[in-house]
Amino acid sequence: MVAQTPPMGWNSWNFFAGRVTDKDIRASADQIVSTGMKDAGYIYVNIDDTWEGKRDENGLLHTNEKFPDMKALADYVHSKGLKIGIYSGPGNKTCGGYPASLGHEEQDAKMYADWGIDYLKYDLCSFIPDVMQKQAPGDKVAQMKLMIAAYEKMGNALKATGRPIVFSLCQYGWDAVWEWAPALGGNLWRTTGDIDPHWDRIYAILSQQDGLAKYAGPGHWNDPDMLEVGNGRLSLAENRSHFSMWAMLAAPLLAGNDLPDMKPEIKAILTNPDVIAIDQDKLGKQGTRAYSDGEVEVWTRNLAGGALAVAVLAAGDSRYSTHPFHLDLAKLGLHGPQEGKDLWTGKPITLTEHMPIEIGSHDILLVRIGAPK
Ligand code: GLA
Repeated sequence: MVAQTPPMGWNSWNFFAGRVTDKDIRASADQIVSTGMKDAGYIYVNIDDTWEGKRDENGLLHTNEKFPDMKALADYVHSKGLKIGIYSGPGNKTCGGYPASLGHEEQDAKMYADWGIDYLKYDLCSFIPDVMQKQAPGDKVAQMKLMIAAYEKMGNALKATGRPIVFSLCQYGWDAVWEWAPALGGNLWRTTGDIDPHWDRIYAILSQQDGLAKYAGPGHWNDPDMLEVGNGRLSLAENRSHFSMWAMLAAPLLAGNDLPDMKPEIKAILTNPDVIAIDQDKLGKQGTRAYSDGEVEVWTRNLAGGALAVAVLAAGDSRYSTHPFHLDLAKLGLHGPQEGKDLWTGKPITLTEHMPIEIGSHDILLVRIGAPK
């Protein structure tokens, strides 16, 4: 059984995009081990788009010159005690314009299994013009049926290989994917369009997760897209908030930064064991927004053993947006002082009714309460 907790690992796209090579994947695998990320739970090393070469006369897809030997690469990643992921899509072409799996689903799935692949991200992209718009022009309902059938086809092909392979659906949340993905073997599904390393985009994605919590659970997760922690010009506060909120959402934690060049403060965020424990909590219950007050949002997540995570996020731009902000414990269903741990300072904290909390713009207070009253 794969993905009993949200998958953790690293994916090449957010930092390398189309430049990624075999060498980068090996270096990233090395870094995952040497930085302690593997010990922190990051296991999947996922190659995103642009590894694909050409199909030969037997329909067999070859790698391009950036990836001379995929089996050898998979063996290398496995030799580090890690797992390896790959990328394709149901259309003729991937989003980057490389060959995808249309008409070759079983063949490709078998090839992945022969290579030792452990994870497949399957990205809709050219299936929209290639099949949906061509076969059912103007008929949205019929188009969605074609899309679901295409994902089912690859789900079955992966199953038929007999190898446990995490199946990641990437179709940007169309047609309430959370309702049908688990039944066809989906372990995670993107809920939105692409992330980028800007707070506005990260916050927009967070805001679109409302109402989806009930669809997540062991083996099947909402995917608000891969992490941008350490990328672009995100401030430390923004990196912390992004990581904390993805943990509150029980999101897959797929780092996407340049691992060989990771700054210590970024490593400290990505490997914070207490925050990872929220994400990986065995109960598998996704957090929800309890309430908002001005630009401050308060989220809670129920954890195994009756514990509770509380996140107070200053989502807005003003330095101290709601000043002073007073916590309303009753709105969280809590009564009286709650003793917990501040997961970013590591210190004990007691949440009390109406306590004033000052948080800088885009920063967060993340607290784990052991046994709430
Ligand atoms: C889409 C996906 C991204 C990435 C690119 C690769 O945009 O949503 O995550 O995989 O394709 O081309």
